[in-house]
Amino acid sequence: MDDADLLILNTCSIRDKAEHRLYSELGKLREWKALARGRAVGVAGCVAQQQGDALLRRFPQLDFVYGTHNLRRVPEMAAAAFRGVRDSQTEESRSQERFDLPSRHPSLEGDPAGRAFVTVMEGCDMFCSFCIVPSTRGREISRAGAEIVAESRNLVASGIRELTLLGQTVNAYGRHDRRRADARAEREAGAALALAPEDSRESFAGLLARIAKIPGLARLRYISPHPIFFDEDLIRAHAELEVLCPHIHLPLQSGSSRTLERMRRRHTAGEYRQLVERLRESRPDLAITTDLIVGFPGETDADFAETLALVREVSFTDSFIFKYSPRPGTAARSLDGEVSDAVAQARLEELQDLQRSLTLQAHRARVGEVAEILVEGPSRRGGAQLSGRDPFHRIVNFSTEAESPPAPGSLIRVEIVDATPHSLIGVWSGAVDDDRPPRIVKMGASIADERRAVISS
Ligand code: 5AD
Ligand code: SF4
Repeated sequence: MDDADLLILNTCSIRDKAEHRLYSELGKLREWKALARGRAVGVAGCVAQQQGDALLRRFPQLDFVYGTHNLRRVPEMAAAAFRGVRDSQTEESRSQERFDLPSRHPSLEGDPAGRAFVTVMEGCDMFCSFCIVPSTRGREISRAGAEIVAESRNLVASGIRELTLLGQTVNAYGRHDRRRADARAEREAGAALALAPEDSRESFAGLLARIAKIPGLARLRYISPHPIFFDEDLIRAHAELEVLCPHIHLPLQSGSSRTLERMRRRHTAGEYRQLVERLRESRPDLAITTDLIVGFPGETDADFAETLALVREVSFTDSFIFKYSPRPGTAARSLDGEVSDAVAQARLEELQDLQRSLTLQAHRARVGEVAEILVEGPSRRGGAQLSGRDPFHRIVNFSTEAESPPAPGSLIRVEIVDATPHSLIGVWSGAVDDDRPPRIVKMGASIADERRAVISS
């Protein structure tokens, strides 16, 4: 900060807390800005989109504000700020241009941790009643398939081993384009269908299959899917695509159908349960993680008990649990049945306790396994430990006696020797097997045999 001329605060407005964090940071930046001439401050992201001009009025130390569709404007806004021009840009773009961004700064060649994200769609048209995303990220738009595949190829060619396809409802990818193409085809009796570029009709499963074929790609993931957009092909992809990781983050929000309806999630608890069953039939070792909200307006003890029961039944590997936070302009604000903070807090803690025990149970079941790890770097736990993720997206902290420890971005095998509720603990025995085809340990029915096979190979 001491050396910087320009500071940009990127923001999240999903919950009230994240928004308030921005206000307190901006308060502190008043002093930073006054300490030297020629300093500028910008605010980006969802709070910027939500507040726009109002931020400039409220914080005189702020020079510019740009919303979620205006990242391309940063160079010009920053230049103007240094000339003393204050500006806010928050209009929505519905053009493909919004995806046309350098994926990383040219000076940052390659990704040391071997992982990268690729945006496949943006925005959200689901309007869940608690959620501010449809207003901060705008209408749902999918990126052209050819662009996605080209960017993925380039990343893999530059040494990336793991790609995560990204979108607010990532598995809704292409749905509006397909609907439009179908409507056109109907109007023009098939003519438009033949004319439509092939990838304007591609499904999410089709896109996954294309990316999975990129030579050198070891792992493929996607976040976040919505439960209602799983079709047969996508479920089958989890059995068929070897590089597709055996982990899905599948937001549930609540285990009560009554609450789900008030949340406008468009599925019931039973439908979620069935989806989990079908996914596990397809990929028996699948690790499922989730998002849950407690204290949603009208949530009764009985509703909450249904959430506890479903969480136990599905046995999530992990979950992010949030207290409901009222957001401006969302439909849930007009629902009655406010839940007191004390009740919401008690539910949060009870659900967290349950999750902690389920996570620990899942982790303990892994002890003795040899897991494939994509090395990220030094462990947060400190010491000489390194850290990485296994195919199930679990953090594995491991020690090594080897003289040259594995570099970030390499794929190695680590023996899991212990488990905590937060991570797995492992030991790395030696060789880096980067050039061998990655092998994902399939668990499930023949788990013991598979493990033995991997250990002996
Ligand atoms: N209050 C609490 N949690 C929320 N989420 C989204 N909006 C809210 C809100 N208003 C949670 C949901 C979502 C995750 C990204 O954040 O669980 O899946
Ligand atoms: Fe928000 Fe996700 Fe619902 Fe969209 S689908 S409104 S991003 S919770």
